[in-house]
Amino acid sequence: VSLKSYNTFGINVIAKQFTKFSTIDELNELLAAKPAENNNQMILGGGSNILFTKNFDGIVLKNEIKGIEKVAEDDDFVYVKAGSGENWHQFVLYCIRYNYAGVENLSLIPGNVGASPMQNIGAYGVEIKDVFHELEAFHLHDRKSVKFTLSDCHFGYRESVFKNIYKNQFAIANVTYKLRKQPQFNTTYGAIEQELEKMNVKDLSIQAISQAVINIRSSKLPDPKDIGNAGSFFKNPSVTTEKFESLKKEFPHIVGYPLQGNHFKLAAGWLIEQCGWKGFRKGDAGCHAKQALVLVNYGNATGKEVFDLSTDILKSVEEKFGVELEREVNIL
Ligand code: FAD
Ligand code: EPU
Repeated sequence: VSLKSYNTFGINVIAKQFTKFSTIDELNELLAAKPAENNNQMILGGGSNILFTKNFDGIVLKNEIKGIEKVAEDDDFVYVKAGSGENWHQFVLYCIRYNYAGVENLSLIPGNVGASPMQNIGAYGVEIKDVFHELEAFHLHDRKSVKFTLSDCHFGYRESVFKNIYKNQFAIANVTYKLRKQPQFNTTYGAIEQELEKMNVKDLSIQAISQAVINIRSSKLPDPKDIGNAGSFFKNPSVTTEKFESLKKEFPHIVGYPLQGNHFKLAAGWLIEQCGWKGFRKGDAGCHAKQALVLVNYGNATGKEVFDLSTDILKSVEEKFGVELEREVNIL
């Protein structure tokens, strides 16, 4: 089976086997019938955070677990449980429709609910950890369901236990989010304020914030329908304050934000742009002209070509700034 239409990079690789499941019972039956050799199986969501560099010599299990329901509420919060195969942005729109606040800043992030805790998705000042209540995951080997609370997930910047120590061990079945009845607007990310002003918004609402985020994102991020990509290819690196100060002497316009604990977060997009990569293209692999942190496939690039481009970018950023970038996209 070709995976080209199952990954937003549009990489044309073949999976040895491919099956869909829409309940955990179905997944359980599949695993019993086709035990994967050497653990060679993957749970696939929307395919918007992966780069296939070779054919997949195993079984791809496409998750289609659906359903969204309010499961509880108290004075301040509603608890909404969503099936992991639900589209993330559709879930955000559902919350906005019912006035459940907390995910509006995360509008228009591609992919499915089930992957949202994988790397603690984040944008415009909000991360999944801020609205996460709990999740249920199915252990692929022990074949049993396990609950994870907020503290069990060890969320960090683009990190969770599912991306590292439990990598490939669980299928996330559903996620319960804790949403506010009274919104706490988060417009700290400067571009939002500017966009709201441009939109002439008088009364702030979660709808307005969602629309502002959608506008900003559409203006600089390539739509995978037009140009293959998986969003930011690298993480924004953090460096010590000392390192930041010395870089600032040499590069006065460097973009960085202070973090807690004597560190600065650098804008990787700025570093990459300064190395001359923005708009670069070799064959069908390239660095997006409006956002240097996004690598793209103009049509027929192979995963290896995109990966090799990312290696060249890593090297040049390291040489110019002495800063090591880390890939954010899952490489397969
Ligand atoms: P997939 O790509 O299908 O899977 C990603 C990983 O999670 C794989 O390792 C897969 O095996 C695993 N996985 C998926 N579902 C499950 C499950 N149910 N159980 C266990 N493992 C699972 N990300 C951000 O954080 N912020 C952004 O602002 C952002 N912007 C983006 C913009 C664009 C244009 C694009 C293309 C991507 C962007 N991303 C962003 C990245 C991506 O949208 C997110 O990482 C998203 O959560 C991936 O979801 P998915 O369903 O497509 O995951
Ligand atoms: N910049 C440049 N040149 C570029 C791109 C960026 O100089 O080509 C500088 C600009 O100065 C800008 C700063 O970098 O002010 C930050 O850029 P932007 O606001 O576009 O955000 P980002 O840091 O590049 C991160 C996330 C995005 C998320 C946005 C908004 C990571 C790795 N990426 O990007 O997430 O949507 O912030 O919060 O943290 C993703 O993970 O796939 C993703 C798109």
